[in-house]
Amino acid sequence: MRKPVIAGNWKMYKLLSEAVETALAMKPLVANANHCEVVIAPVFVHLKTISDRLEGSNIKVSAQDCAPEAKQSANTGEVSAEMLKDVGCSHVVIGHSERRQFYGETDESVNKKTKSALSANLTAIVCVGEMLGERESGKAEEVVKTQLLGSLDGLTVSDMERIIIAYEPVWAIGTGKTATPKQAQEMHGFIRQTLTETHGKETSDKIRILYGGSVKPENIKDLMAEADIDGALVGGASLEAESFSKIVNFNG
Ligand code: PGA
Repeated sequence: MRKPVIAGNWKMYKLLSEAVETALAMKPLVANANHCEVVIAPVFVHLKTISDRLEGSNIKVSAQDCAPEAKQSANTGEVSAEMLKDVGCSHVVIGHSERRQFYGETDESVNKKTKSALSANLTAIVCVGEMLGERESGKAEEVVKTQLLGSLDGLTVSDMERIIIAYEPVWAIGTGKTATPKQAQEMHGFIRQTLTETHGKETSDKIRILYGGSVKPENIKDLMAEADIDGALVGGASLEAESFSKIVNFNG
């Protein structure tokens, strides 16, 4: 049985006081959610404060990116996976489509960052997903497969057990246009089949594959009913404690 994961990606929203307020408001609302893992991803400079304030709760803290380089080194502006672990993170989002589109992230850099995250004992949430034009021209599966193979290149079976995949069709992010549960399930099934080809069925059966793209309290239940959807990576609807907690408590 795969334990679902509901992760909130706060992107570049919230000042520190707002982030603390939202995190504290979430705490009691998700405290009984034993059916899933709950993760929130604030910006780098809030991680230490948020993880301190959430200590002892069931909310885990994730970063939104990490450096490709694992060692402490001369890399101005970068933050290593080890540093994230050191301030209380358990997870890191890697290769989000906004980073791929606007910050030059490639499958190669995603691969390096994923390896760095694993070497620091973080769980890597590796994002993949096609653009609208790619879907319309029938290339969605090909694009996602290329992203998966490049991003996960060289990872062992035991590495894969510490990875979460997030499928986020770019056309559904922040647009209010969710993939239908059927569209999402088709791609999740394809992703799992690809992981079976690369790492075997025993491993692929264990990997959580999250859906992301306009997930809301109103659509989470139908998405979660699909066989290969093991949770969600939530942007906009994770910014408010109430809507995020409704998504977390999708089983209620
Ligand atoms: P959204 O963002 O839920 O606002 O569409 C999802 C994401 O970017 O992870």
